[in-house]
Formats: sequence, structure tokens, C-alpha cells
Amino acid sequence: MTYDLSPIDKAKFVAAKRATDYVQSGMRVGLGTGSTAAWLVRCLGEMVRDEGLKIKGVPTSSRTAQLARDVGIEVVSLDEARWLDLTIDGADEYDGNLNLIKGGGGALLQEKIVATASDQMVVIADISKQVETLGAFPLPVEVIPFGWQTTKTLIEETLIGLDVLGRTTTLRMNGEAPYYTDEGNHIIDLHLNRIGNARQLSLVLNQIPGVVENGLFIDICDVVVIGYGDGRVEVRDVNKGSVEETRFDFVDNDNIFNEVAD
Ligand code: A5P
Repeated sequence: MTYDLSPIDKAKFVAAKRATDYVQSGMRVGLGTGSTAAWLVRCLGEMVRDEGLKIKGVPTSSRTAQLARDVGIEVVSLDEARWLDLTIDGADEYDGNLNLIKGGGGALLQEKIVATASDQMVVIADISKQVETLGAFPLPVEVIPFGWQTTKTLIEETLIGLDVLGRTTTLRMNGEAPYYTDEGNHIIDLHLNRIGNARQLSLVLNQIPGVVENGLFIDICDVVVIGYGDGRVEVRDVNKGSVEETRFDFVDNDNIFNEVAD
């Protein structure tokens, strides 16, 4: 692995690297999707290869499955694993209660199923993902292709009665064609600007026929590991009410990060 990285990639990398402290041999681990989670998968691959780490990884997307296999992690399905010790994943936004918006990468459905089937969910993120109130990032909603335009209209009508600042919705595209998720569904992005009551919104959205799942993760995440471009890492644990700081030093000559004790 080479560490000639931009500050944002350094932040993602150190968050991922620190999160590997939660992984122990014998664990069944949910592997998230996105650029931060990709760092995690690469770090775990190194540990499998160099340190003899033995884990079963449950990927949350076909992309992550491919990467995990490429780096030597044993990949199993959720049905094979049944229940997981831990899931580590990125996020598009997290708030002070560690409620999340996810799905910017289109994998929210598998991500939510896998995270919910885990004893613990650890989110890895750079500090830009931290928000006071969720909603600046468009909220992804996975819908089945059948009648998606009707579902979109129903979503817009439902939003009228809810505590949000914007109500525009857009079908996610992949070039000229609608985007398809790994499950063969579409994604409608909700441009809400501010979500006043995320729990209520999540429940109401999932009542709409045609909606499969939404990208709000409420009371699912336990810990956030926040990386900074200068190598600092902060770990916030909502259950313990603790905040810990670590620092990784970037060593020029041997392309390696040194973890510096607190
Ligand atoms: C994937 O569907 C998303 O939930 C990602 O976890 C989220 O978009 C974070 O991705 P990055 O780590 O690339 O920012």
C-alpha cells in the first residue's frame, strides 16, 4: 500500500486503520461500501496476509465483495453468517446521536440489513461528514422500478406533512439511464436540506408502497471513528459516552504510518 495521499484520503485511511482495532480473529465482520470502507477492506486484507487475521467478511455490495476477495478476505453471504459480530462502514452524514444518512454510494439496502444484523456498528468517516442536523446530504430512498414515478409522487406528497426544509426529489441516474442498485431497484434522492425528525421521517417513508428502504440509520450505529488529514483520529462511543484521540504519524521514508500512543 502506498500512502502518498491527499489530506481527505489520509483522513479516511486513518479512520479505517483505527477501526481495525475492533476486529479480532474469528469474527464475522460486515464490510461497508464507499471510499472510506474500501480503505478498511484493504487494511483488513493486509492483516489477513501479514498477521494471520482470520475473519469471515460479509460485503454490503458487489463492489465491496470484489475488493474483499481481491485482498484475500474470506467472503461469505449474510445467510451463511446469519449474525455478525461487527459491521464497519462509511456514512454520508452523522449527527451527535450517531444517527446517519447513508446510501450516497447506492448500497443502503444491503448496508442497513447487514448493520442491523450486527452486535455493533462502527462508522468510519472524515470530519466533513459531521453535522448538527441531518439533511444537507440528499436522503437516498430505494424504490422498486415498477411504478417508480407514482412512488416518487407519493413520497413528495408525504413530505408536505413532515418537518423538512426542502421537498424536491430526483431519480438517481447513471449517465442517461436510471441507476440500478445491486438489488435491481432505483434510488430517489430527497433534497430535504434539514430533517427535523429523522425517526418519524424514516418510519413514514417506509410505509409508502414501492419504497424498499431509506438511507436513515437511526439507533444502529454505536461508535464513530473520525479521521483528520493530519493523522489524528477521534473515537466517539455513544454507549460508553467516551471520546478518545489517537494519532498516526506519516513516516516519509518507509511509506508507513506509525500509531502514536494517546
Ligand atoms: C454507500 O452506499 C454509502 O452509504 C457510503 O457508506 C457513503 O456514501 C460513504 O461513502 P464514502 O466513504 O465514499 O464517503
